[in-house]
Amino acid sequence: MIARMLSIRTRPIGTLQDMTTTTRKSPADLRSARWFAPDDLRAFGHRSRIMQMGYAPSDWAGRPVIAIVNTWSDINPCHAHFKHRVEDVKRGILQAGGFPLELPALSLAEIFVKPTTMLYRNMLAMDVEELLRSHPVDGAVLMGGCDKTTPALLMGATSAGLPSIFVPAGPMLRGNWQGRVLGSGSDVWKYWDERRAGNISGEDWVNIEAGIARSDGHCMTMGTASTMTAIAEAIGMTLTGASSIPAPDANHIRMCAEAGRRIVGMVWEDLTPARIQTRAAFGNAIRVAMAMGCSTNAIIHVIAQGRRAGHDIGLADFEAASRVPVIANVRPSGDKYLMEDFFYAGGLPALMSQMQGHLDLSALTVTGKTLGENIAGAAVFNPDVIRSLDNPVYASGALAVLKGNLAPDGCVIKPSACAQHLLKHSGPALVFDDYPTMKATLDRDDLDVTPDHIIVLRNAGPQGGPGMPEWGMLPIPKKLVKQGVRDMLRISDARMSGTSYGACILHVAPEAYIGGPLALARTGDVIAVDVAKRSIDLRVSAAELAARRAAWTPPPPRFERGYGWMFARHIRQAHEGCDFDFLQSDFGKAVGEPVIY
Ligand code: FES
Repeated sequence: MIARMLSIRTRPIGTLQDMTTTTRKSPADLRSARWFAPDDLRAFGHRSRIMQMGYAPSDWAGRPVIAIVNTWSDINPCHAHFKHRVEDVKRGILQAGGFPLELPALSLAEIFVKPTTMLYRNMLAMDVEELLRSHPVDGAVLMGGCDKTTPALLMGATSAGLPSIFVPAGPMLRGNWQGRVLGSGSDVWKYWDERRAGNISGEDWVNIEAGIARSDGHCMTMGTASTMTAIAEAIGMTLTGASSIPAPDANHIRMCAEAGRRIVGMVWEDLTPARIQTRAAFGNAIRVAMAMGCSTNAIIHVIAQGRRAGHDIGLADFEAASRVPVIANVRPSGDKYLMEDFFYAGGLPALMSQMQGHLDLSALTVTGKTLGENIAGAAVFNPDVIRSLDNPVYASGALAVLKGNLAPDGCVIKPSACAQHLLKHSGPALVFDDYPTMKATLDRDDLDVTPDHIIVLRNAGPQGGPGMPEWGMLPIPKKLVKQGVRDMLRISDARMSGTSYGACILHVAPEAYIGGPLALARTGDVIAVDVAKRSIDLRVSAAELAARRAAWTPPPPRFERGYGWMFARHIRQAHEGCDFDFLQSDFGKAVGEPVIY
């Protein structure tokens, strides 16, 4: 199977550059030659100090120097195998005539970093950009996969502008408990509700803990990790088929080595992110994301990534793509399968082959070939996992963008993963200003709440969270859970995990913490949502809203020093991708090469 997926797999080692596009660079053109080649005092220092590590001129002279930006750490379970896989990447680089240098970067383990990795996505992007800019390197292999690492690595590499290839961590194997398949995140929420309802014992819960994550790799539902690595592939930044390979599969080892070989060819070809990440490539990525039943987080990350690449990507691009049906039958949009099944069914090339009419097949990729050439011959091996366009999992598109007086700059819902009767609903709001109060209140048995209520959490956006945490799958009140209620309409300016599900309206912009209309809602107000009409409205008169606005006072800044202080001054809103204003491509003059003297 992998022979079809990795389109350059079978070529003899060392011939990659000859088999793609014409070689244009000479050794003297290499960026690293500025550090190592001159006969001057500084170059003496560079050469003597690299020789201090045991290298000889034959190791680097005339060879592309390749940075391997590795987001491995001892506390990132999704990247645990990167400690070993980096050696496979190095093997490939050496085989193709390059000189590998491993450069560790911020690891951003989704599950452990608090308050949220989203607070630090831009920090990793800056880390990558400056690592590449400041060191004597000609190209980069980017090793990531756990949620924010993928967009951060690609954002940083895009701004740095050097030839780069992304190596996805790969999904972990299916979870297992008592012979039942368990999916990351999705089954945590599901069984937690059953435990709250008294249907799961403490012993069962411990056994679920031990069985839900049983191998290296990132979450194996269609969460943010699987979404963003698929987007990286659809945009052309990975080898063909790379994003679908489970982390423990031997094909993953071979993919890592192949990426190492390929980046050397990309340096000689000067195949930069700017040549690959065209607007057409972003259009492909957004439509593939829709067909995958993507995480809502894709919207924020793709907007940020697209703007780094100089394209004015926005919510309208996602709304326009919402006509693409969901054809990946992977949870939580799908009802049964996980990423391991998706790989066995043919992986992303097979999915893209099913939707060729929605794609610009002429888009260039890291293979040096077009997307159309990469996926030629891709086949579906299980049509229940990878559906056809006329037999979709969900016909109307994975995501919908809503607007109205409660969200003038937009908000997002994932209709493919929620109870369909809630897609048109109005009801009284139950409003909370902070998560701890909401959590404690929703556990009260005497709470005055019905399934028609709409639970609202505010002050959980980019500024308010801070960092826009994944709180958006607000808990169902315990009293209703015991009655069998499993979905309700919920609204917040937070994000939610891509593994989550339910009628959760997210990313309300502008956020409440900076005075968005969500700040004016009160418990008992009626909110009306109509997904088909893409509307969300607070049914309160303009005069009353004006009076509430006049009485509203801005809360104090979340941070008075450090990184958070900088974050609060420069973070953009959700509909703008949550990048820092000063990192977007249209901010100021381009940064040049570092001076060496
Ligand atoms: Fe790393 Fe889910 S915790 S991808």
